[in-house]
Amino acid sequence: MTGAITMNDHQLPELRIGNLTAKLPIIQGGMGVGVSLSGLASAVADQGGIGVIAAAGIGMLENDFDKNFRESNTRALRREILTAKAKTGGLIGVNIMIALSDHESLLLTALEAGADLVFMGAGLPLKIPQLITPERLRDGATRIVPIVSSARAADLICKSWMKSGCTPDAFVVEGPMAGGHLGFQKNQIGDPAHSLDALIEETLSAVRPHEERSGKPISVIAAGGVYTGEDIHRLMNLGAAGVQMATRFVATHECDAHIRFKEAYLNTRKEDLTIIDSPVGLPGRAIRNNFLQEVSAGVQKPFSCPWKCLRTCDFKKAPYCIGKALTQAKLGILDDGFVFAGANAWRVDRIISVKELTETLILEYHEADLVKMEAA
Ligand SMILES: Cc1cc2nc3c(=O)[nH]c(=O)nc-3n(C[C@H](O)[C@H](O)[C@H](O)COP(=O)(O)O)c2cc1C
Repeated sequence: MTGAITMNDHQLPELRIGNLTAKLPIIQGGMGVGVSLSGLASAVADQGGIGVIAAAGIGMLENDFDKNFRESNTRALRREILTAKAKTGGLIGVNIMIALSDHESLLLTALEAGADLVFMGAGLPLKIPQLITPERLRDGATRIVPIVSSARAADLICKSWMKSGCTPDAFVVEGPMAGGHLGFQKNQIGDPAHSLDALIEETLSAVRPHEERSGKPISVIAAGGVYTGEDIHRLMNLGAAGVQMATRFVATHECDAHIRFKEAYLNTRKEDLTIIDSPVGLPGRAIRNNFLQEVSAGVQKPFSCPWKCLRTCDFKKAPYCIGKALTQAKLGILDDGFVFAGANAWRVDRIISVKELTETLILEYHEADLVKMEAA
């Protein structure tokens, strides 16, 4: 059956977010501390998806980061957005965690530099209408998309934005199989009640009344453990308007991390994927290595913290600086850091181009569609 489908046969449904349309309903999830910059984001946008530059720790590779934390972050973010926009005519987004102490200046920079979308998670973006004005939120060039881990959070954000006469154009709903920081308690992670499929159905029901009241559609996008085109097909059949994927984009030539970071994915086994207690105060999914084993054995990795870049980081008690540890990993120095990864990272077996990855996903999607039609 596979041989019967060619790239020219079908297109996947487009993804609409407000006035924007992505040809491919795939968003590349933002990956902080330099893992997704203009290189990866522009490659994904070129294929018709939405490429995303992550703002977290983006200034850590600037020469003056230790002296000028805010300025180095905004400078690096602006440069990456402009570079990505110069490389592609496709859609470029920015991921900004609300937990970042400078999230407001990063958001203003993303708007000024012409990002098409800003994805905001790791906290509830309730105050955005007041920060950038309801008019700019409604009619400005940049769409703001909250990332949530529950239907309740989506409902709260809609109610809060409604007070200013707006609703989000979309939500990314991130389930517990995602990589990096997770919006769940540890005991919720394997609980079917919190599965991505359940979260999508609940969020669709939660946003429906807000769509009806505002007369505007709200796209619900599924993230966390999406690995194949068949997964995309299943989630879109549940009602998701598209998916956000990160783990699969790490194992691409275009991903902005060092080759040793990508090789950590190739080498990881299922049992190496672990949930850590991040100094940020959230659980996180990562690949177990010597660094993490030493930390869990009580070894302290001394550091100074001039900026407190994460509002929720208890840096006086933290055994290590998570920003530095992740930066070292991005640079390929894995002994001094560790790698965040999604629950499916053990399935990665080779590094391919973004084009090859998206073409594979499209073919798998259509195979799943044929199977469904034949079964009907
Ligand atoms: C290496 C890595 C870094 C990440 N960094 C961020 C980040 O800075 N901000 C954020 O909101 N999500 C971050 N995430 C989560 C992803 O954007 C994405 O939503 C999630 O990993 C999707 O699940 P998947 O990896 O199974 O596809 C990160 C994930 C990974 C694997």
